[in-house]
Amino acid sequence: MSETAVIPRQLSDTPASSRGCILIIDDEVEIRESLQTLLEFEGYEVEAAGTGEEGLSKLGERSFDLVLLDLALPGRSGIEILPEIRSLYSQISVIMITAYGTVEDAVRAMQSGAVNFLQKPWDNEKLLADVRAAVARRRAEEENIQLKRALKQRYNFESIVGKSEPMLKIFDLVAQVAPSRSTVLLQGESGTGKELIAKALHLNSTRRDRTFVPVNTGSMPPDLLESTLFGHVKGAFTSAIASKKGLFEIADRGTLFLDEIGTMGLDTQSKILLVLQYRRFMHLCGVHEVQVDVRIIAATNVDLRQMVREGKFREDLFYRLNVITIDLPPLRQRKEDIPLLVEFFLRKYSDENQRQLRRVTPEGLRPLLNYSWPGNVRELENVVERAVVLSSGPDIGADLLPDHIVGRGAPIPLIEPRGDASLFDVMEECERHIIVDMLEKCGWNQTEAAERFHIPLSTLNQKIKRLSIEIKKKIRDC
Ligand SMILES: Nc1ncnc2c1ncn2[C@@H]1O[C@H](COP(=O)(O)OP(=O)(O)OP(=O)(O)O)[C@@H](O)[C@H]1O
Ligand SMILES: [Mg+2]
Repeated sequence: MSETAVIPRQLSDTPASSRGCILIIDDEVEIRESLQTLLEFEGYEVEAAGTGEEGLSKLGERSFDLVLLDLALPGRSGIEILPEIRSLYSQISVIMITAYGTVEDAVRAMQSGAVNFLQKPWDNEKLLADVRAAVARRRAEEENIQLKRALKQRYNFESIVGKSEPMLKIFDLVAQVAPSRSTVLLQGESGTGKELIAKALHLNSTRRDRTFVPVNTGSMPPDLLESTLFGHVKGAFTSAIASKKGLFEIADRGTLFLDEIGTMGLDTQSKILLVLQYRRFMHLCGVHEVQVDVRIIAATNVDLRQMVREGKFREDLFYRLNVITIDLPPLRQRKEDIPLLVEFFLRKYSDENQRQLRRVTPEGLRPLLNYSWPGNVRELENVVERAVVLSSGPDIGADLLPDHIVGRGAPIPLIEPRGDASLFDVMEECERHIIVDMLEKCGWNQTEAAERFHIPLSTLNQKIKRLSIEIKKKIRDC
């Protein structure tokens, strides 16, 4: 192998005008030439090599998107050099080509990381379709890597993915406000990434070496929540056999993340307001004031302004929390993030399950792009994890996706948009039909419908309210 062959390249130096760079490794001159002509005619940049060694050396000289690799090469065979290509240039897609392909060869090639297997003589249309899919896959992966690298360099964000306009604005905002001490209010539907952003704010602040303390204020009765937040002195209540620190003290000089703040009772709200105003509080039944330096980040998936109007949330606390607001858009409004998120979760769950890296096929990606994702990124993550666990080969196709996503369940209603209807109106109308259809199927049992949609019941109920769906009486208990 030449010296340059061992330098893995990750960033593409492909000219923007090219549809992609392809390396053909085949010992038969006619095959190389006919493939090169076909692919160049389609707008690809093509180079060719007659042996595995020559191919490896060309791979070291520049970056390629795809290698078309002959199985039966003189010297080291294609199947022998495939693992080397995969380990040195893991981002490059490889399609194996052979005249004498057996099922075992195909299986070995796929196990060694080839993305596809073609038999000579090939059908040009099929070959071009496979090449297009393999190049697109490699480009998506590369984009993901570059984006993550850029985000990491710029913001130190390691696990947040997004390239849509609203997400890029959010990343900028997070970078801007993270170092300050300002209270931040995160708003967004369930599963949009509020907790992830809260952690990014903490990790990008000067408090990063202190604790990030999340507390779900909706999951506790008011008394327990107050003693959890503020701590208590011995004997404050019957079971208080010893004094206990509260989360405000534990988060001192760090960040306290108050999740689902909209569910907090008015009494607790008043106490939180006092801490925000004076940075001091008292333990339950305590006599001394405790001074703390805590940054508060709050999150809600309900409209706090509306709650203020209804008298359920203190207006003064709302304004205290609302110093900087970050609105996380639902996934259906930033569908360009879906391929990146899919790649990200495929990598995460392939690694976690010690599987060879799974890839989504164009047929698998299509329904994921068309689906409305009521449970947002969390729902997408669950769908990808499930597909990785169920998969036996490297490809994730539509067959590994749940019925309701590929449309094998309820038919999507055909909605004739009114002349003045916006896309948003049409999507809302679709969402309404789908929810009513599911509720009908579950005998109007909201809990079952929420489970079958893989979303929290609270999210379904918000949607029912927003879409003014009239709940019929339960007709059966599920
Ligand atoms: N932009 C993103 N990139 C990568 N992963 C994401 C992104 N957004 C969300 N996730 C993942 O989706 C899941 C849900 O995110 P998170 O818990 O932050 O949502 P949330 O808005 O707090 O939801 P809830 O309101 O239900 O508590 C997490 O596993 C998170 O890591
Ligand atoms: Mg959350």
